[in-house]
Amino acid sequence: MTQSGHDDRARSIERDSRPSVRTPLNNETVDTSSQIRRTALIALDSIADGGFAETEAAIDGDAESVILYRQGHEVRAWLNICPHAGRRLDWAPGQFLKSREGLLVCAAHGASFELAQGECVGGPCRGEALRAVAVEVRDGQVWLASA
Ligand code: FES
Repeated sequence: MTQSGHDDRARSIERDSRPSVRTPLNNETVDTSSQIRRTALIALDSIADGGFAETEAAIDGDAESVILYRQGHEVRAWLNICPHAGRRLDWAPGQFLKSREGLLVCAAHGASFELAQGECVGGPCRGEALRAVAVEVRDGQVWLASA
């Protein structure tokens, strides 16, 4: 990449100015609407529309950092592990970079990910993807989807 290309990319990446949210490891909660034990991750309203949050959740028995991205009433989630070198994508806990094109940018080496499927569309791991985490929104909460 040329120096000017690097500068152009640097100018097009912004820190998400909306407040980011980070929540600690969640607890299993009884979903009163279904009487099923579910894992509540975060209140939907605590994520800005178009913004990110980070939380910890038990995935396959391990505590994992999870990226949450809200778009309206939908939330998508991925493990906070970059497919390039296995680093976290946030530059500080819960603080993510978003390009002007609406891509999530890894703070380590600049890989950029579209926010529908979490596929890397630019940078050192182009063509790979973030590992999706199944979540659902119900009663104003984001829940870890049951298996
Ligand atoms: S670890 Fe994310 S781009 Fe290298």
